[in-house]
Formats: sequence, structure tokens, C-alpha cells
Amino acid sequence: MKALHILTFISIALLAGCITGTRYVIWLDETDITKMETGWGTSKVNQSIDGNVLTIAGMTFERGIGTHAISKLLLELDGKGKKFIAEVGLDDETEHPDASVKFYVLGDKEILWQSGSMTAADSARRVDVDITGIDKLALLVLDGGNGINYDHADWANARIEAKCESIKSIAITGGDAAPYILTPSPPATPRINGPQITGASPGKPFMFKVPVTGDRPLRITASNLPNGLGIDEATGLISGRAEEEGRYEVIIHAENEKGTQSRPLQIVIGKHQLALTPPMGWNSWNVWACSIDQEKTLAAAEAMVTTGLIEHGWTYINIDDCWEAAERTSGGELLCNDKFPDIQTLADQIHDMGLKIGIYSSPGPTTCQNYHGSWQHELQDVQTWADWGIDYLKYDWCGYSQVVEDSSLDAYKKPYFVMREALDRADRDIVYSICQYGMRDVYKWGSEVGGDLWRTTGDIVDTWNSMFNIGFSQEENAPYAGPSGWNDPDMLVVGQLGWGPNLHPTRLSPDEQYTHISMWSLLSAPLLIGCDITQMDAFTLNLLTNDEVISVNQDMLGRQAVPVSRRDGIEIWVKELYDGSKAVGVFYTGGVADDPVDMFNWDNERKSRKVMVAWSDLRMDGTLCVRDLWRQEELGYFTGGYETEVPYHGVSLLKISAKQ
Ligand code: GLA
Repeated sequence: MKALHILTFISIALLAGCITGTRYVIWLDETDITKMETGWGTSKVNQSIDGNVLTIAGMTFERGIGTHAISKLLLELDGKGKKFIAEVGLDDETEHPDASVKFYVLGDKEILWQSGSMTAADSARRVDVDITGIDKLALLVLDGGNGINYDHADWANARIEAKCESIKSIAITGGDAAPYILTPSPPATPRINGPQITGASPGKPFMFKVPVTGDRPLRITASNLPNGLGIDEATGLISGRAEEEGRYEVIIHAENEKGTQSRPLQIVIGKHQLALTPPMGWNSWNVWACSIDQEKTLAAAEAMVTTGLIEHGWTYINIDDCWEAAERTSGGELLCNDKFPDIQTLADQIHDMGLKIGIYSSPGPTTCQNYHGSWQHELQDVQTWADWGIDYLKYDWCGYSQVVEDSSLDAYKKPYFVMREALDRADRDIVYSICQYGMRDVYKWGSEVGGDLWRTTGDIVDTWNSMFNIGFSQEENAPYAGPSGWNDPDMLVVGQLGWGPNLHPTRLSPDEQYTHISMWSLLSAPLLIGCDITQMDAFTLNLLTNDEVISVNQDMLGRQAVPVSRRDGIEIWVKELYDGSKAVGVFYTGGVADDPVDMFNWDNERKSRKVMVAWSDLRMDGTLCVRDLWRQEELGYFTGGYETEVPYHGVSLLKISAKQ
């Protein structure tokens, strides 16, 4: 009798809770979507991905999420949901015939609803799906089959209705694996890091800081330097002007209280020898975008020194778009805007630290963010930059679309020839970074127009799909990479990023970040850190300071890795090295999922896989020495092959060499 009373009381209380307004609807825009994956930009709450009012085919929505294909979000509902409701479609801001997407709602490894292919002309489609009993709900936006460009997708009015149960928040799953450190600290004894070759033009200012780790103070000396160059023994900065062309076999010697080390450094004095290994540094775009200013640039340079990154070869401090003033001077000179009150001083400060400074412009009248480009001012702008002391130029197509003469290949090459000529006339070496997103197979002619590097893809973002699609599709251009001409698959997306004033930790998992740095090293890609280096955690710093991994990237042979095996979600990429050994990346990528269900690691069920690396796949044989580069550990000698365990989305980065 008593029990019956209690039961009645509980049911009445539950019913009352339901009726008296306990929350049982939760809007997607109320959840923490920082982990939502996108193919471009960062998803926005109650705004389109570009920050406008959510609008689908003329209809506006106050609430929802603006995102960009490929977009993924996995929600933990624990069976509490009843319905998922939304209006979906391409946002009107996209206005492009190539924009097309497909929306999917998935629950517990089943497709519950799909929109089919949608274009910008389609009005919003209503989603109203029963999700009773679903534990994990996944929201997915794929491109419509023609690439992700312009695919701005809106989940408008998106919400979950719960059963008559309180639902306070929804857990977003994925991306929460704990970072783990693999790279051991450098020894206290001197260790000379960085490239073993560097070059400059005859008669132009030369600057190369020898990166050395080990206890301070250090004494760094060099023998057989070309005439005109000298070394600062306290910092290892080699500078001066070398007039005579030639290849100089310099020996660097470093010593401290704990020991000594010597290492050869080739210095090549000649034309177009500026990027004999891929440039390494920092770029403002992925972290600050248009909120970059002089103070932040200086802080990045200081952090390069205080964190010790400089002693691992990181050199350039590159300002991307948004530094230019609205008007040129009456004489046509380009000026900085208010955010850079004194770039000359900034350049001096950066040089005094042993670092170099980079700038950004466009061959068109305007840059991507509508600042002044260098169109018809090429010589004058190069002169301005040379006067400031600029060492690196990223030359970004964008506004050139307005003035390109026709669609011939020559018309695409032309502006890059023009800038090359202007750079050659300057009394200063300036690395020439071509950026036009890979149009017209730029890798086939980037060298011909005098580029030191050229972007091969659209912009990267900090998601697996973006990094994977870019990094693992660089096979075709591999034969074109080499000293003084590198394929550039875009900047690094580790650490705190944001493309604006608000930063977030990278959405790549720790394993995905090991994959990212390993792959970019194997690809001989320029390494430009895209994060806030004033606030790196131990994991990020560790990731960027493994000298054995960096030396794969900086290897003086300059080969780009190629895949030797791609089977069943496992890829093996091999890079030949100068000393005859091979760097081998064994990746568990999971492959390219055709099935939307496979695009999610639902229950974290994919953990690791054992992979046999056969010597025959590497075109090697016999008994070979295997070294784990991330752990900097000798694994022993193996005949026929080596079995390694690779984490999901992670890598095993090995160096395989013949027995000594
Ligand atoms: C383009 C480039 C980016 C960045 C921005 C700046 O999108 O690809 O790397 O330079 O322009 O506006």
C-alpha cells in the first residue's frame, strides 16, 4: 500500500516536471560546437560561416549553425532524444553555381535522413526525424560531388526535442583524446640542428642563424666561410655579403661546458639558391587573420626565441593579409595601416633576434581581404619591402581574377614572371612564395616562373578531412619538388588557432597532429606554423621541436615522399634521403569513406592496427636498421620487413637504413 503511494507520488512529480516546463528542447546553437569539423573556416552560432544572418533561398533564420562542407558533429544523446528538427540548405552568401552539398542525419551507425544534393537555388529542406532511443546522433554535410568550394551550409533552427525528461546539454564526442609526448628533450651537450645546406645570391645581404640546442653559454664557430661572411660566436648568426659564386663546404663547431659537436654546412652562393630546403617559420593567417598587428607579430618573434623554436631551425615571421593602408602615397608607395605603426623597426627587431620577416601581397589590384595588391606597382613595392628589410613574399592571386587577360596558361603565369623580375632587381634576397591554390597545375610551372614554393591546394583548416584531403593527395606533384622549388600544401594547423581574434585549440586529435607534422615533413613541405606561438602547450612545442622529424623535412636531397602502398585504410609513404636511407610514414588513415556512416568513429572502436612494412615495398632488401623518429629510438635490425602498430588517424614514422 505504502509502495503504491510512493510510486504514484513519483509519477505525479515526473509529470509535473514535464508540464511545469523542465527543459526538453535543446537547440544546436546552445551546445559547444567548437569541435564541429568543417572543410573551411569555423562553424558559427546563429550566423553563416562567413558571419552573416543565416539565409537559405531568401528565407532568414535567427537560430542555427553556419558551417562548411565537409562538416561533422557527433552528439551523445544517451537515448534521451525524441526528434531532431531543422531547416537545412546552402546559405545565400555563397551565390555560386559550383556550390552543392548533401546533408545527412545519422543515428547509431544508420542514416536516418538525407537531403540529397542541394544547390544554392534550393529552398530550405525540413528535417524532422524520430531519434527515439538513439545514443549517438551524427550531423554530416558532404560536398555535392564537385569539391568543397563555396559549400556554405546551414543547419537552421536545428534542435533536439527530448522525451519528457530534462536535457540540460548535449555532449559532443570526439577530439578529446589526451595529448601524449613522444619527443625526448634535447641533450645538454651541443647539438647542431636545422638544414645542412643554405644559399644566397652573390653580393646581397646574407643571414643564417645556426640552430643549436644544448646548455648555454655556447660558442659557435665556422671554418671555411665564403669571403665576406662572418659568424657571431655567441648566437651562431652568420651574416655579411658573399660576392663570389660557389659552393662552400663550411664546418660548424659548437661547444659548451658539457661537450662539443661539429657538422658540415654547405653554403651555396649563386642565383636562385634561396630555398635549398623548405622554408620554416610562422605565418599570421591561421591564428590571427585580419586581427594581426605589429605587437602580435613582435610577440610571435619573441616567442620563437624564448620557446627555443629558433634552435630547431624555425626562422621566418610572416605577416599575411591585412597589413596594407587604404591609400598609397601620392608617389604610389604602399604603406602599412594603423596596425603596423613602424614596420621598419619591427623588421630590425626581428633581424636582431636572428629571425627573418615575411610579407604578403597580390599580383591583382586587391588582396583576398580587399587590401591593396601590387598590380602595376610591382617594382615599387619590391623596393619598399627591400628598404624595410623584408626577406619573404607570399604573392596571392585573389584580386588578379579581376584583371587576368584571358584564360590561357600564359595569362596565369604572367603576373608571377613580372614579380620575379622585380624581385631580381632588388638589392635583397626575398623568398618568393606563389599562392594561387594550385590552379592550372602550378606545380608544373612554378619553377619556370621563378617561385621558391607554390601552393598546391585551397586553404587548410584544422580538421581531419581538410588535412587528410590535402596532405594525402600530393602524389602527382611529387616529381616537381626539389631544392629551390617546393610544393606547398598550406600551413600547419596545430596549437591555438582561430583566423581572427578568438582562438580555439586545434580540432585535430593528438594522433592526427603527429600525422600532420609527419606528412608535411615527408612531403618536403614548407613548414609554417599557423598557431599562436606565445601560448603553446608542452605537446605542441614538443611536436614542433623533434629534430629528427624536422631533418626529414630539411633533408638536402629535397625529394618529396610518394606512396608505395595504399590498402585497406593504411598508407605507406616513402621519402628518399640524402644519406641513402629512407624515411617511411605508415599511416592508419581509415581511407576515404564513401559511406557516410564510416565517416565517424562512433564508439572509438578504431584504435590501432598492426602493419607489416615489407622491405620489398620500399625497394630494399636484406637486414635493415629501423629507427623510430618521433621517439628518437633505435628499434633494431630486421630482415624482410618490420611490423609496427599504428594508432587510428596516427602514424609510425620510421627511418630505414642499411646495416652499417
Ligand atoms: C587566401 C590564402 C590564405 C590567406 C588568405 C588571406 O585565402 O590562400 O592562405 O593568405 O588568402 O586573405
